[in-house]
Amino acid sequence: MSLDLRGAARRADLRLERGALDELDELDRASAILTWRGRMLNEHVSARVFTALARQLERAGVRGDRPARVAAMVAEEWLHADRCAAVVEVLGGSPVIELPALPPVPEHEDADPLEAVLRNVISVSCLSETVAVALIDAERRSAGPPALQRLLAEILADEVGHARFGWRLLEDLAPSLSPALRERLADYLVIALDELATHELAHLPARPSPSRAAEAIGVCDGLAARRLFFATVNEVIVPGLQAAGLPALSAWRAAQEIGVWASSAASARYTD
Ligand SMILES: [Fe+2]
Ligand SMILES: [Fe+2]
Repeated sequence: MSLDLRGAARRADLRLERGALDELDELDRASAILTWRGRMLNEHVSARVFTALARQLERAGVRGDRPARVAAMVAEEWLHADRCAAVVEVLGGSPVIELPALPPVPEHEDADPLEAVLRNVISVSCLSETVAVALIDAERRSAGPPALQRLLAEILADEVGHARFGWRLLEDLAPSLSPALRERLADYLVIALDELATHELAHLPARPSPSRAAEAIGVCDGLAARRLFFATVNEVIVPGLQAAGLPALSAWRAAQEIGVWASSAASARYTD
């Protein structure tokens, strides 16, 4: 099965300013197409994750407008996928990608519905979306064509909302979490932080951007992005979770001890 967003890309009718692509050589263009096609797939995966999360929130009895807000996030992620598809097309690529076998969104059957959904909200909003905010903001600042800056600013505004959703929910629920539940969430955090680092570092090559022109069109400097990833975990995610009463600092240390990514990431950090 493949994800084919040619129709959406055409409807978006994205136009970059004249000359925006002139400085790209064929290699830059090819890596930009790969980058944006990969983002298109990531956005599709995010839509799928929020679809499951909306259902899990309802099942856990989380009241108010939260399930509806998560449903709205699904639509935002679809729109982001369409936007990324439009960039692929403007670069001369085809916004079609083979869908990999995607693992199911975890149901955490060893936990009750509230604990299960809390694990996923932490993993999705407080970890992944928070990292996305930092990375997309950096890309927006490096983007050259104003139309691309605007497109990234729109996506960024939504991702900020997706991250904030989880932080607010955690803040609201934190005072009522029992010590036993906190302890189990602390164990879960080790796994979630290890998975986060494994996933992000697999997508952030330990090399600089091929050229300034490529960077201006969205091909990130992998080394800078890796540094930003670690800074976000250390300065935003860990302190935020600690403030909610979860021992995130020790969980992050434990994740760094078990993570197979840790040694290569450390050498990449110190040799750039
Ligand atoms: Fe998104
Ligand atoms: Fe998102």
